[in-house]
Amino acid sequence: MVDIAARFGSFVAMYDPKPDIVKHAHVNSLAEYRRLYRLSIDDPVAFWRRQADLLTWFHPPQTIVDRDYDAVDFSWYSGGRLNACFNCVDRHVADKGEKTAIIWAADEAGEYRHITYRELKHEVCRLANVLIAHGVKSGDRVCIYLPMVPELAYAMLACARIGAIHSVVFAGFSADSLRDRIIDAGCKVLLTANEGVRGGKKIPLKATADAAVEGLSIIESVLVVKRTAAEVPMRAGRDHWLADEMRRHRATCPVEWMSPESPLFILYTSGSTGKPKGVLHTTGGYLVYAALTHKLVFDVHDDDVYFCAADVGWVTGHSYIVYGPLANGTTTVMFESTPLYPDPGRYWRVIDDIGATIFYTAPTALRAVLREGDDWVTRHSRKSLRILGSVGEPINPEVWTWYHDVVGDGRCAVVDTWWQTETGGILIAPLPGATPCKPGSATLPFFGVEPILVDEEGKELHGNGVSGNLCLRASWPGQARTIFGDHERFRETYFTRFPGLYFTGDGCRRDEDGYYWITGRVDDVINVAGHRLGTAEIESALVAHDAVAEAAVVGYPHDLKGTGIFAYVIVKPDAEREDPAQIAGALKEHVRHVIGAIATPDRVLVVPGLPKTRSGKIMRRILRKIAAGEFEELGDISTLADPAVVERVVAARQAMR
Ligand code: WTA
Repeated sequence: MVDIAARFGSFVAMYDPKPDIVKHAHVNSLAEYRRLYRLSIDDPVAFWRRQADLLTWFHPPQTIVDRDYDAVDFSWYSGGRLNACFNCVDRHVADKGEKTAIIWAADEAGEYRHITYRELKHEVCRLANVLIAHGVKSGDRVCIYLPMVPELAYAMLACARIGAIHSVVFAGFSADSLRDRIIDAGCKVLLTANEGVRGGKKIPLKATADAAVEGLSIIESVLVVKRTAAEVPMRAGRDHWLADEMRRHRATCPVEWMSPESPLFILYTSGSTGKPKGVLHTTGGYLVYAALTHKLVFDVHDDDVYFCAADVGWVTGHSYIVYGPLANGTTTVMFESTPLYPDPGRYWRVIDDIGATIFYTAPTALRAVLREGDDWVTRHSRKSLRILGSVGEPINPEVWTWYHDVVGDGRCAVVDTWWQTETGGILIAPLPGATPCKPGSATLPFFGVEPILVDEEGKELHGNGVSGNLCLRASWPGQARTIFGDHERFRETYFTRFPGLYFTGDGCRRDEDGYYWITGRVDDVINVAGHRLGTAEIESALVAHDAVAEAAVVGYPHDLKGTGIFAYVIVKPDAEREDPAQIAGALKEHVRHVIGAIATPDRVLVVPGLPKTRSGKIMRRILRKIAAGEFEELGDISTLADPAVVERVVAARQAMR
């Protein structure tokens, strides 16, 4: 675990909530936060019953929560009936039909499209009718492999409208990754685009989608968005242009009233072992939680223009671009481009163009623009901004301070939000009008959330000034309910290591003031440039290459990405005479092809052996140190089967430039 004092320094400044924000905030003092927090823990049923009023129900819920920790069975708001699409779209049309629901910021700088709530309803209904015409029924799975175009949001909401379950796959994933996810979820329809456009480059999505579904009979229809003028092969009977189909259908479509525990979506995420798992979220609890956290953590009001720069292919986009903001009737932004295109001032230009008041991004993106110089920021006004959010990995205090002082001109609140795909929404974060901040700390738990720190033996660490494994007690409405098709894996992954608790996989310190500091993963998951990857996935991709006998992948500190990917490989005898630089290049390309560009190793080192225990377990702790260049602090290596191997690996690492 990282030593916090060494990493962040022993002194940290406190930043009080800004007076302007306090005046209008939903929760406007620390005392008020503490009062509500107490209430939410002491009487969760009363607290969460009241929060259900954020949504419109066809039937009100009867039982607020019903949980069985032994069976790992959580149910929220049972007896009620609702529809997520109705809550995000229809119910706003009466009083805000002409309000902008989505501002689409295209890759081309300066190009925007404003979609009102009324237009959104029409588009979603047309798309829902298209899905129905292609045989999609309640409970069916639909795979969405789209770039950041409005149709991505329409498709998710259309699924929700008719009770189908969407599985969005990030458009940077490879054909193999897409295929695995389609098979695992048993999807019958796939939505994609002829091409994606990002940072001025065209991405051949249809070609990747074609490769993914080649010979796969479960996919009955492929619906294709025409993002560019590019011609692509269309297979007769299977492939259809989405726009043509939508034109043919009516702009009204009844909603399906669902039970709160009906699955809303599957989202694949990486774990310590095996293939990515399909995390399943349900309707009622998820939507209440996404809406409430969005409203309070970003202190959202009716006139806000809310800009989250994430991709909808990740959970941040699900909860805080689509479901949370739209449930609250907010104007939300879909940003197709990158922070550096066409220049490093892109974010601030968009903010000025659309008058964004709230901005939410990842530390990795901030580091990328920070190093280009303040001038790119200060040449834009940013005067509309009020609140700045961060998510995905620990934010370095220097970056936090820069975000606060330079981007926010010292007048905006910074909210560092800690959560996971599995948690559905934010669990630890400051509330802008209430919580004093310390740069680098996600501060205090959200309502209803009980963080517990335990040591390696599972003993709870009480009081302040302690570090341990971060777990959560009880249940909160946004919690994932299962892994699609594998409840046992769900139970085993999260609920067996520390019985009676949900284990997050993160290490954490609770400081003297009770503030939480996430120190990063304690398992074999790494957060690379805000994307979550399992080292095991990358290892299996590597060993699938002809030249590789064995591989071990670890994370190492990386200036830009936070964590970089370091791969150690032992090559097969045939490949031993080849140039290691060439092998490294080929392996990087290979992993990119197998998983996607985000998983490409930053460094590949050919080694003569790997440090293993006598039982054959790779000692990753040692490999992490060596990757980071910390050769002096390797710790106890006496339990290794062959301690001499360490010296050889160190020599290879030192020879690497
Ligand atoms: C990490 C992203 C520190 C953490 C929403 C977690 C963070 C993993 C923060 C989940 C934060 C996320 N500070 N670490 N504010 N936010 N993480 O599932 O390790 O893609 O377990 O969800 O990201 O990544 P995921």
